[in-house]
Amino acid sequence: MSMREQWGTRAGFILAAVGSAIGLGNIWRFPATAFENGGGAFFIPYLFALLTAGIPLLIMEFTIGHKYRGSAPLSYARMNPKSEWIGWWMVIVAFVISTYYAVIIGWSISYSIFSFNLQWGQDTETFLFQDFLQRANPGEVGGLVPGILIPLIIVWAVTLGVIYRGVKKGIEFANRIFIPTLCIIFLIIVIRAVTLPGAVQGLQAFFEPDFTAIMNGDVWVAAYGQIFFSLSIAFAIMITYSSYLPKTSDITNNAFITGFSNSSFELLAGIGIFGALGFMATQSGVPVEDVAADGIGLAFVVIPQIINQFPVLSGLFGFLFFASLTLAGLSSLISITETYVKGLSEKLNISRGKAVLFGGGLAALISLLYATRGGLYFLDAADYFINQFGVALLGLVEVITIAWFMRRLGVLQDHANGISDIRVGGLWKLCLGIITPIVLGYMMFDLFRQNLM
Ligand code: PHE
Ligand code: NA
Repeated sequence: MSMREQWGTRAGFILAAVGSAIGLGNIWRFPATAFENGGGAFFIPYLFALLTAGIPLLIMEFTIGHKYRGSAPLSYARMNPKSEWIGWWMVIVAFVISTYYAVIIGWSISYSIFSFNLQWGQDTETFLFQDFLQRANPGEVGGLVPGILIPLIIVWAVTLGVIYRGVKKGIEFANRIFIPTLCIIFLIIVIRAVTLPGAVQGLQAFFEPDFTAIMNGDVWVAAYGQIFFSLSIAFAIMITYSSYLPKTSDITNNAFITGFSNSSFELLAGIGIFGALGFMATQSGVPVEDVAADGIGLAFVVIPQIINQFPVLSGLFGFLFFASLTLAGLSSLISITETYVKGLSEKLNISRGKAVLFGGGLAALISLLYATRGGLYFLDAADYFINQFGVALLGLVEVITIAWFMRRLGVLQDHANGISDIRVGGLWKLCLGIITPIVLGYMMFDLFRQNLM
C-alpha cells in the first residue's frame, strides 16, 4: 500500500483549513446576518454557537479524519461500515455547492476586470442582470453566455489544476499564496472603508445592540447556521483535510486556531462592509438600513455603486475587493472539490488524475448550466436547497450518529487527547451529544414548520 499523501507543514494544514473556512460566507453573508439579528447583541448567540458547536465539531471532524485516515466516506466506513452513507451524503452536498460556488467566483473575476473602467455604469442592477447575466424569463431556456463562460472555465482550470497536483504541491502550495495575499488585500480594503466619510454611521448601525434579539429563537438559528456554513462543517471537508495530517499533530489546537481565524476574518468583513455602507448611506442621504444587503445583491450591485462614489482610486479598490472575493472563493472551492475527488479515488481505487477528470469534470459540466441565460434561477434554487436542508440536517445526522448510535465520542476523545495539548472532556461531549443536537433539531423543526405548514 502506498503512503497516504501528507501536508508538508503544520502551517500548511492550518492555511488550507482556514482557506476553506474563509469564503463568501464571511464576506457577504456574515455582515448582513449579524446586522439583521441584533447587531452588536448578535455576538452573544454567535460566540455561544462558535464555542458549543463550531469548535467542538471541528475538533470532532479533525479527529475523525486523523484517526481513520480517509476522506469522509472512507472514514465513516472505517468507523462503522453502516455509516458510510453519511460520508457520501456530505460529499454529494459538497459536490452541489461546488457547481455554483464556481460560477460566483467566475463573476468575481469578471467584476475585478470591470472595476478598472467602472464598466458597470450608474445602474449597477440593470448591468448585472441584463447586460452581464442576460437573465431570461423564468422557464425560458437560454444559450450559454460567453461573458460568464470564459471566467468559469478559468476557475475550473485553476481549481482542478491545483487538486491534480496533490495535497502538498497543489492544495498547500496554493493556500500558502492565496491566504496571506487575501489577508493583506482585505486589510487594505477595510482600512480604506473605515476611513471613508460616513463610515462611523455604518459601524454604529452594525454594532448597535438590540438585546431583545437574544430572546428570539430565529436569531439563535441564524447564529448556528452561520457558524456551520462558515466553518465548512458537515461538508466532508475538514475530515478529508485532517486525514492528510502526520501522525503527531495537535488536533485541538488546530481547531481553535481555525475557528478563531475564521471568526476574526468575519468580524473584519463586517467592519469593512458596514464602514462602506455607512459611506454610501451618507452620500445618498438615507439610513444605513436602506443600503444594507447581502449575497449577490451586496457584492455585485451595492459594492459597485459604492465603488462608483469612491473619492480616489475607485478602480483600484474595486479590483482589490473582487480579487479578495476571488481568492477567498477559490480556496474554499478547492477544499470542496477535494472531498469528492478524494472520495471517488478511494472508493473506485483510481488515481487522483482520473478522479479529477471524472468528478471535477462532471462538476464543471454541471456548472455550465448556471452560465446560461436562465442560469440564475438554477443557482438560486441550488443555494436555497443547500442552505435550508443541507447544513442543519447533515450536522444533526452527523452528531446523533456519532454520539448516540455509534457511541464514538469516547474513542475520539481519547484519540484527540493523546496528541493534543488542550484536552477535551465532559464539556466537549455535552456540547456534541446534547446541546448541538437540541439546537439543530430545533432548526430542522423550524424549517419544517416554515416550509410545510
Ligand atoms: N466556509 C465557506 C464560507 O464561509 C463556505 C463553504 C461551505 C466552503 C461549505 C466549503 C464548503 O464561505
Ligand atoms: Na467562513
